[in-house]
Amino acid sequence: MEVTASAPGKAILFGEHAVVYGKPAIAVAVNRRAYVTLKKREDKRIHVKINDLNLSGFIDPENGGVQVEDLDEKAEVKEKGILDYILSAVLKVQNGVDQGMNIEVDLDIPIGAGLGSSAAITVATIAAVSKFSGVKLSEDEIAEHAHNVEIEVQGAASRIDTTLSTYGGVIYLSKDAEGVLPLKIDWNIPLVVGYTEERGNTGEIVESVKLKKEAYPEVINPILNAVEAVTDDAVNALVEKDERRIGELMNINHGLLDAMGVNTGDLSRMAYTARKAGALGSKITGAGGGGSIIAYCPGKVDEVIANLNKKDKAFSADISMDGVRVKVKK
Ligand code: PMV
Repeated sequence: MEVTASAPGKAILFGEHAVVYGKPAIAVAVNRRAYVTLKKREDKRIHVKINDLNLSGFIDPENGGVQVEDLDEKAEVKEKGILDYILSAVLKVQNGVDQGMNIEVDLDIPIGAGLGSSAAITVATIAAVSKFSGVKLSEDEIAEHAHNVEIEVQGAASRIDTTLSTYGGVIYLSKDAEGVLPLKIDWNIPLVVGYTEERGNTGEIVESVKLKKEAYPEVINPILNAVEAVTDDAVNALVEKDERRIGELMNINHGLLDAMGVNTGDLSRMAYTARKAGALGSKITGAGGGGSIIAYCPGKVDEVIANLNKKDKAFSADISMDGVRVKVKK
């Protein structure tokens, strides 16, 4: 038996960083997926191969460890961290592992670009292992396990990434993270994601905003309040499909993120390249400091992608209404 599960990545539309201080955020699942394929092994070992990274190794649940087998010279050491998510995900489903397997991961989400690749891999791994081992899990249970994997591996995590990878769609994370509410958007938001090779370190960037907030509370607190106002107004703009307002609110959110200090020259250039090519709005998505921008491009998706691709990389990011999917091949 061969099982393949896949789960989508995500992009934050409004509210990153402010969400760390209890402000709301809006995020979407995007049609770029992580695919996790499992095949049985005759022995009891678990072997993982991540094709896009040329990274492979055995994970050894009994000793709680990961042994990287061959590491492509270009693969950065931190990419080995992906194996920790996979190990933790396997253990969430298979207690006292007794079934050996080969796990193969294919990604069409860029890694480390704020697009939720680790959550997508985690969710797909949990779904694949549960099917493979005959452990029935509901979507709610998959999301819960995946959130716990992120906490175990990262120390802390919001529910944004694991929720979107599990259920797909568009979500509004309410004030003080009290709830994750699905937003009923009945039209496809034409989005383009642009990303650089440069990677931001989310933990470090979150810390830098914290230091700014401590050094300039009178300045940064009103900025966080302004992000909240932008996000709440954006809910209405999205529901009403008010294209001009969605774009303007994204541009304002970008400026506020810039003021928090999470912009870079490359992200700024990409945001303005997108606007020049016809995007109604563009902004950093995710932590910043490298990573990605998102542009809102009614009628201009191809133009924006072509212009961003001259110097960087871009793809169209339709919303994935589908969350995790599982296929079995006998
Ligand atoms: O770049 P990402 O997808 O890890 O997004 C981080 C979003 C922040 O608001 C900056 C941090 C967080 O934990 O919410």
